[in-house]
Amino acid sequence: MQKFTQSATDPDFVQNPYPLYTRMRAAGDLVFWSDYDLICATSHKAVSTLLRDRRFGREVPADKRKPIPDHLAPFYAVEAHSMLELERPRHPRLRGLVMRAFTSRRIKELAPEIEALTHQLIDEFPRGGFDLLTAFAQKIPVVIICRLLGVPETMWRELLEWSNAMVMMYQAGRTREMEDKAVRATEEFVAFMKGYVDERRTTPADDLISALISAEESGEKLSTDELITTCILLLNAGHEATVHSIGNAVKTILERDTKVNFTPEGIEKLTEETLRIDPPLHMFTRWCYEEVEICGHVFQPGDEVALLLASANRDDNTWADGDRFDPTREILTNTSFGAGAHFCIGAPLARMELQIALPILFERCPNLALATQPNYADIYHFHGLKALPVTAT
Ligand code: HEM
Repeated sequence: MQKFTQSATDPDFVQNPYPLYTRMRAAGDLVFWSDYDLICATSHKAVSTLLRDRRFGREVPADKRKPIPDHLAPFYAVEAHSMLELERPRHPRLRGLVMRAFTSRRIKELAPEIEALTHQLIDEFPRGGFDLLTAFAQKIPVVIICRLLGVPETMWRELLEWSNAMVMMYQAGRTREMEDKAVRATEEFVAFMKGYVDERRTTPADDLISALISAEESGEKLSTDELITTCILLLNAGHEATVHSIGNAVKTILERDTKVNFTPEGIEKLTEETLRIDPPLHMFTRWCYEEVEICGHVFQPGDEVALLLASANRDDNTWADGDRFDPTREILTNTSFGAGAHFCIGAPLARMELQIALPILFERCPNLALATQPNYADIYHFHGLKALPVTAT
């Protein structure tokens, strides 16, 4: 297996990780990334196989768990109930209860609100140059997830700050300062959600928190801790990745001077292609639970493997000339939302946000242009912009 050395915080890599992925795929379905000390799946075949194979999972095997330092205990107390960190039997139970509340009806009902919000944000665009990431890409997902859950929209700044601080725990090269910030954010977030869940217990509303509480009360229970973690997971996952998928999509479209095809089919193809070519999440890992051979390598129980979702998306064996952005391509399933047991619960909502917001933006701002070349933030495995400076006149 070929070995690669590449710091994930190297500025050139942060700005453009794709040449490394191309070299990795050329070296095989599986390669060794020495900076992470991990085997990485590079191809669409390998990543899709590993995502779907139940002999691999996200939950850390008991003998691999590291002691949690005292100062991080509040953060991991919340994570302990996250479906994203669990496998059978707790994962399907939690996911099933959430899916019961997170219905396609509830998602579809948000379409007119996304449309109205998009128009409102465009109406409020400042004259001259401005940052589209803060004025547009950040606001749509956070306001919509607040409305879905039934959390007051006036809280959006706090939610954004808490969530930004918490996701720092997953970035390459995190510091003690980041950890302390993440813990403070976790404590404040939990205190807020506790109060809110209590309020909804006495005064239910037509929102996701009330639906999650009633799912708790009809036999299969979500404990209060599980309920709070689930709400935090939905709030965090519900906007961090969506912000960056909107930002990356707008950058991709503007850089390539793409002619937007405003038919529903054209929009669907365009959004899938932007998600494929520059997804916001590049790497997730899996633990091996049973000896198994994948792509010629025998994994042993306790091995950890990284799945390079963004590399798999550019595999020439699945997408002809995979590095080329082509919004007219036939849609083939990419791995931006994962696959298998942990497939993203929010994919239909995120897709709907992109499919509504992007055409309105480009129809109403036909002269939208990059003011300067935007830069990606140094937050691998999140791949998102620091800012998106544009002009709209
Ligand atoms: C474009 C935006 C988004 C992207 C690219 C994205 C990506 C992903 C990926 C790759 C996973 C699977 C991780 C793995 O298999 O290890 C995942 C899981 C998840 N996502 Fe998303 N996501 C997005 C938006 C959302 C939204 C809007 C929500 C909620 C409102 C959400 C909620 C979740 C949850 C709860 C999980 C965990 C599912 C489980 O463990 O069973 N995501 N997401």
